[in-house]
Amino acid sequence: MTTNQYFDSFLQDKLDERIANGLYRSLVHATDKIDFSSNDYFGFSRSLSIKNNHTTVYGAGATGSRSITGNSLLAEDTEKIIAQFHGAAAALIFNSGYMANVGLFSCIAAKGDTFISDEYIHASIIDGMRLSYASRLRFKHNDLSDLEKKLGLATGKKIVSVESIYSMDGDEAPLKKIAELCKKHQAILIVDEAHATGVFGDKGEGLVSKYHLTKDVFACTYTFGKAIGLHGAAIAGSHTLRNYLINNARSFIYTTALPPHTYLQIQDAYKALPMADRTKLFQLIAFFREATLSIKQLSFIDSNSAIQGLITGDNFKAKALAEYLFKKGFYVRPILSPTVPAGTERLRICLHTFNTINEIEMLLTEINNHFL
Ligand SMILES: Cc1ncc(COP(=O)(O)O)c(C=O)c1O
Repeated sequence: MTTNQYFDSFLQDKLDERIANGLYRSLVHATDKIDFSSNDYFGFSRSLSIKNNHTTVYGAGATGSRSITGNSLLAEDTEKIIAQFHGAAAALIFNSGYMANVGLFSCIAAKGDTFISDEYIHASIIDGMRLSYASRLRFKHNDLSDLEKKLGLATGKKIVSVESIYSMDGDEAPLKKIAELCKKHQAILIVDEAHATGVFGDKGEGLVSKYHLTKDVFACTYTFGKAIGLHGAAIAGSHTLRNYLINNARSFIYTTALPPHTYLQIQDAYKALPMADRTKLFQLIAFFREATLSIKQLSFIDSNSAIQGLITGDNFKAKALAEYLFKKGFYVRPILSPTVPAGTERLRICLHTFNTINEIEMLLTEINNHFL
């Protein structure tokens, strides 16, 4: 056996372990299925006007990082539009939400400081915190008294992080109360608005702006890969924060910037966001919730957002249900432990304005049939 073959067999053993535990991930093609899985809540990624308007106007690539040759008035104007839209002083664009959070959390604190995050916080924030020398504390999901307890234990600068809408449960953080606690304990608050961007607020500004908390929140992450239907993300906050990130966030500094046409597409999407059919989305969410109330034997997560969860409590059951639905023409993904805590493995159902009441009814009928 060559060294390469030996190493390959070592990797295969690791994959076999995942298969045995029901954790094996494979890539799927699902373009012919009814989409109950993507985060494209308004179908923006399918919108031809956003897709094709600008692709030939500028060069194809950025040619370098923002700090070298990749900066442009286009990028900076886009950041001003984003900041204004969300009511922030400034914004800085990163190539993805993952990179935005990793960049921010890895450079914002130092040894002796303390991160305090909700136990369900997104992996990108966990990875960012892990790259920092600051300590980490977790509080129980949406549990204010546990948050207060952890604020009492924290040393140095205190940085609290939450998602306004949790990506796997779809539930909402009690933002106003969390902001009050942060104020009381002189902690800064960082809110990941990935799943609220475009969906909540009169124009889709997100929940921080909707609840008039912009001044109480130090920074927000807005992602473009979900309701905006594109790619990339921005951190919004003060001008000082923007300058600090330009100087310290390694996932901003050491990577080629987004291609020019992406900025134009982001601008188009931000123009379209106020007109996105939030009323229809919330009608579908209300219909889904009402319909699931009558299915007593199944355990749906309590969520008012486009993300709805059906707990199966087991990786194999979640996968079997998703595979059954796939065969029936629906694309819905199982979410397995350890991505979610053991015992809360689930089907993550995303609702979109392009879904119909009939499709929702068919989906729920098939879910019922599977369990009969
Ligand atoms: C809460 C949250 N933050 C950040 C991200 C990362 O965003 P992106 O997909 O743009 O990297 C995601 C996406 O999975 C998310 O759900």
